[in-house]
Amino acid sequence: MTNLISLINLIPLANIEVRTQQLSTMSGDLGINRRILLFPLPYQGHINPMLELASLLHLRGFSITIFHTQFNSIDPTKHPSYDFISIIDGTTSNHFEVNNFPSRFVEHNNNCEQPFYDSLRKYLSDNKGVTCLVADLHWYKIHAVAKRLGVVSLVLRTGSAASLRWFTSFPVLRAKGYYPLRESEKDELVTELPPYRVKDLIPMDKCRIDDFAMLVERDIEAAKNSSGIIINTFTAIESDEIQKLHQELSVPIFSIGPLHKFTSQFQSSLLPQDRSCLDWLDKQAPGSVLYVSFGSLASLNYEEFVETAWGLANSRQPFLWVVRPGSVCGTENVSMPDGFDEEIRGRGMVVAWAPQLEVLAHDAVGGFWTHNGWNSTLEGIWEGVPMICRPFFADQMGNARYVTHVWKVGIELEGKLERRIIEKTVRSLMKEKEGSEIRERMRVLRKNASECTKADGSSHLAINKLVNHILSL
Ligand code: UDX
Repeated sequence: MTNLISLINLIPLANIEVRTQQLSTMSGDLGINRRILLFPLPYQGHINPMLELASLLHLRGFSITIFHTQFNSIDPTKHPSYDFISIIDGTTSNHFEVNNFPSRFVEHNNNCEQPFYDSLRKYLSDNKGVTCLVADLHWYKIHAVAKRLGVVSLVLRTGSAASLRWFTSFPVLRAKGYYPLRESEKDELVTELPPYRVKDLIPMDKCRIDDFAMLVERDIEAAKNSSGIIINTFTAIESDEIQKLHQELSVPIFSIGPLHKFTSQFQSSLLPQDRSCLDWLDKQAPGSVLYVSFGSLASLNYEEFVETAWGLANSRQPFLWVVRPGSVCGTENVSMPDGFDEEIRGRGMVVAWAPQLEVLAHDAVGGFWTHNGWNSTLEGIWEGVPMICRPFFADQMGNARYVTHVWKVGIELEGKLERRIIEKTVRSLMKEKEGSEIRERMRVLRKNASECTKADGSSHLAINKLVNHILSL
């Protein structure tokens, strides 16, 4: 069996779409019949990398079963090659309060523990050949259930290696008095965790610190008890951080990112994508369009929304802006400010949800104003698109810190969102010397990133190691 998988490991993963059919047939012919169970946390930024991993493992000859919650459920009809099992989790509220994500994740764990136990037990009695479970880092109770039922589990960390180091360092940071974060120290370097400054740490209200400490402790315990940690990152951007994690956590670590690069085209969007923006992009000059998206959860208040609208309009730069339902606090469907549509006609487009990977890969796109969710950050780097960084919550501040101060491929947009400052920042990135220098650095970073995914590149080798590791379990 290992020899057959090794044979597949030798096939470079570039141009994978073309080979999907060929490889699947090949693995079938070779009789590889091992099944991997996967369970993503039910949010877009966590579902995407998990389904990308599913696709990668399927290409390597494994059968795939996806467990998913009814909350933000995944549509099985979009993935006919996989089996799906729905967990009746009883999560009723769709409301996600960004600063309260620890309690929300704890709630998901509590809601899913018993239903997952029942489902997995039944599944195991009906099916042979289950090799392991891969579940999100935050599914600490799911990892524990797998262990109780004798299933080996691996962790998928969908964020950066640096953010995982932030989790492992949290008890020390707390003991040293960093929390609650102090406004007066916000620009100071966190000496225990450079290059983070105090303001790049995940903010946490005083009353939520205990919840957060509990979540982090249980996540790290689950990671340490797992058979391996898969991270959606790569050595061209986080070599030191990956190295330190190897030293700090005594489990195998597989840095196999950027995952979206290793997978065939697939549909994992929870919202319908408006593909008309691709036709609009076709009509724009190369490198002229600023793509603006704040991901799947962040929201602006109404005043910030209006300032953003006029800042973009006044920059005179073509733009494509994602305003998804819930983008503005307190309203599901927001209307654009009066006069805005007339003002931007022909040079601006607003959509509710975009095919982001295709947008970033489009020739017309020359800049990306992002919230620096980790997926967006990786996707932007992969396509070599310089960024304006405006993080909102959780790991986004830390990601933005790396983009602006470590890789130096983005401009930080700090402080109150005002149209005048937005206009100036957009011009700096798209038209001025600062933007050209960033573009050049991004070109180099992109080239280094692509080296990692070549047949002898670090991510490709880590994927081979992961496959062999799974087969040895
Ligand atoms: C959340 C957190 O905000 C983030 O900090 C953490 O790293 C992951 O979970 P999210 O807001 O969803 O992330 O952002 P991000 O990680 O960037 O993921 C968004 C995904 O949605 C990306 O893969 C992006 O390609 C996709 N997307 C976004 C679309 O397909 N269309 C859009 O219009 C916008």
